[in-house]
Amino acid sequence: MTETTTAEHYERVAASYNEHWTYDPDYVRRFADAMVDALRLGSSDVIADVGCGTGLYTRRLAARVEPAHPVLCVDPVPAMLEQLPSSPALRPLQASAEDLVSGAVPLPDGTRPDAILLKESVHHMADRAATLTGLAGLLSRHGRVLVVMLPPAIGHPLFRAAHERFRELQPEPAEIEGILAAAGLRASISYRTFHAAIDRERYVRMLEARYMSVLSDFSSEELAEGVAQFRHAYRDTPVLRFEDRFAFVAGWVRPG
Ligand SMILES: C[S@@+](CC[C@H](N)C(=O)[O-])C[C@H]1O[C@@H](n2cnc3c(N)ncnc32)[C@H](O)[C@@H]1O
Repeated sequence: MTETTTAEHYERVAASYNEHWTYDPDYVRRFADAMVDALRLGSSDVIADVGCGTGLYTRRLAARVEPAHPVLCVDPVPAMLEQLPSSPALRPLQASAEDLVSGAVPLPDGTRPDAILLKESVHHMADRAATLTGLAGLLSRHGRVLVVMLPPAIGHPLFRAAHERFRELQPEPAEIEGILAAAGLRASISYRTFHAAIDRERYVRMLEARYMSVLSDFSSEELAEGVAQFRHAYRDTPVLRFEDRFAFVAGWVRPG
């Protein structure tokens, strides 16, 4: 195992991040549409995407919603934010979720978001309860938050050690639901499955590029061994098909 910080991992993968999924624009479109629907976003909503990364999904979400206020694209890693397209619909803000909660980086113009999206970023937050509770406190009266996350057991064709490590690190969606409920929100979990089909050789390149942050826990030798295991397991499968099943954990401010 190696010690790579989250920031180092994303600095490294930023330039190639979009490549991994943009080959299937339909996947990104369906995913973004599912998040728009789950948050019931409309054009008047003030939206913040916390841990937006390169904005791969944010840009599609903005194209669908056509928001009157630019979507606030929040991420602590400059190299990820640099990949955001320049667009009047997207407003970058270099900050972590913790920075927003502590006020170290204030929300521009003192805005209170109507919707906060956290897609695959919650596992990076050291104190999830404090951070999510703090984010819930920033919401407007019509506010809602959507935490999109993989469950600990996933269908990605990773090698065994990567599955085991992912299971150790990834929080349970029920834990996040409990935090949102304790923060006073009306909380619920639902699941969405997106079908992925990827050429095996492309997937090898994704593994080698450490497309999931869990892969940064492995040294070059351990990764090479994992890729060899993967190649052996899928030697007769030129196109990998798997179900990418995500938890959508939602929390809505209670009326009144
Ligand atoms: C797996 S990527 C997801 C990016 C984007 N939401 C997507 O789905 O394409 C996780 C992102 O969370 C960001 N991140 C890491 N720690 C964070 C924190 N404490 N607060 C907010 N974002 C964080 C990373 O910089 C990275 O861009």
